[in-house]
Amino acid sequence: MKKKLLNGVKTLAITCRQFGDTGKGKFVDLFSEWADIIARGLGGDNCGHTSWYNGQELVTHLIPSGIRDDKNGKINLIGSGVVFNPKTAIDELLELAAKGISYDHLLIALNAKLITPADIVMDRIKEAAAGSGKIGSTGKGIGPTYADVPDRQGLIVNDLINSNFFFAKLKRHLENKARVLRNFDQELIKQILDHQSLSSGIYYNPQTIFDTEAIYEQYLIYGRELQPMITDTDDFMRQSLGKKNILLEGAQGDLLSVKHGTYPFVTSSDCTVAGLSEGVGLQKSDIDLSLGIIKGFYMSRVGCGPFPSELGRDESDKWCNGGQGNRQRELELYGQPPLNDPNEFLQGIALRQAGNEYGATTGRPRRVGWLDLPLLRYVLRFNSPDIILTKLDVLNDAEIIRICYQYEYCGPDFWLGNKRIKKGDEINEAIPYAEVLQHCRPLYSEFPGWQRSLAGCHSLEQLPPELKMILQFVVDQTGINPRIISIGADRDETIFV
Ligand code: IMO
Ligand code: MG
Repeated sequence: MKKKLLNGVKTLAITCRQFGDTGKGKFVDLFSEWADIIARGLGGDNCGHTSWYNGQELVTHLIPSGIRDDKNGKINLIGSGVVFNPKTAIDELLELAAKGISYDHLLIALNAKLITPADIVMDRIKEAAAGSGKIGSTGKGIGPTYADVPDRQGLIVNDLINSNFFFAKLKRHLENKARVLRNFDQELIKQILDHQSLSSGIYYNPQTIFDTEAIYEQYLIYGRELQPMITDTDDFMRQSLGKKNILLEGAQGDLLSVKHGTYPFVTSSDCTVAGLSEGVGLQKSDIDLSLGIIKGFYMSRVGCGPFPSELGRDESDKWCNGGQGNRQRELELYGQPPLNDPNEFLQGIALRQAGNEYGATTGRPRRVGWLDLPLLRYVLRFNSPDIILTKLDVLNDAEIIRICYQYEYCGPDFWLGNKRIKKGDEINEAIPYAEVLQHCRPLYSEFPGWQRSLAGCHSLEQLPPELKMILQFVVDQTGINPRIISIGADRDETIFV
């Protein structure tokens, strides 16, 4: 069945049609058998890729999850669109080595954007100062590093291995950042730089904020360690196109794309398939098959920003973004409520527990809610309809499953260009702006759940009729073309449609 799907395909892309965390690790794993090259082109160590190795959970942030197949000669590649933290890379490589996982075929783009300590400080300090306007950033320096590029003060990985000009470039970059950072709380900056992820304070200088020498010396060491892997990956990808089987691994999700997502509550790269292709030196038209993942029939969001179908609305947002919540604490406070709990906040907790929806990078509880078709219709505007539905087993115990098919706009008048959106309007295709989305009331269709295990279902026909009915509704409403249905974490819990 997998063969049929991949018939004639040389370049396959897997991205997410929601807010990330749709379980792409499983599919990267599934298709890495077929792939010769597994490449990522977006984001940085803000991502969390969860996969399995020898029965152990393997979480990587920067290194592609296909690294488990390095031993089989597979090439894993970090593309030029990635923002690269060399410390994270080296820490992850050490961790892989400790687990006995090789990385002999790992390639790193020489023109990937380099995250500096100043970018990380900038990210954290801006969030701390933003108050209620915060994005919920992972604090990894992603936004500032991407912004450095059009701002013409960015560094690239290749700078690490050219000591003759690296110092001057780095100095200018750090001075520019320090000039801005002087306007912020100096004690907090010092505290941020004391963190272990920033080498525990060695980069701090009370006069200039950053100790250029210290950063320079440390980054040169990183450069020397990584140099054997650093290469022109854009050229490598172009040369491989059509000859090798290429798997492009997305990061985050379409709704977090800086170009198409729920701006400004987004990450700073274009997480769509267009951004992914560009981030590995290819074009969208080079891709033979583009698969988009959605969770069946729910979604999650990490960080701030509007989420119309969120279970428990404000209470959930507050709890998940309050900074106090984590899996353990949630369990202690709320126990294990049933998936059918009449209190939506508690139902959300049950869904989070059933789907293990806790951030792989930050451990934060992910906000969860029902599948939102207006948002899905919107992302299908710039995507192929080919869809992977994941995690269907999470809803096995749900008595009622709700699908948001439309919004009712409840906010003040909003001008969308020459069109006025007013109270009571029906919205079928989401308008991605936070100013509109935050005032959208979801309208639901209710379906009876299947309330049984999906184990042993190997074809579409074998799925429970209740599930098929919901799936048909989603297909009719949005025009998606389901290609794969995943009913569990294991490889063989996968139905090729
Ligand atoms: P994976 O790859 C979910 C969210 C953050 C925040 C916003 C901006 O595991 O799906 P950033 O640090 O990028 O400036 O944060 O984007 N975010 C993610 N949400 N999954 C991710 O990655 C995410 N990476 C960033 O929570 O709201
Ligand atoms: Mg994740």
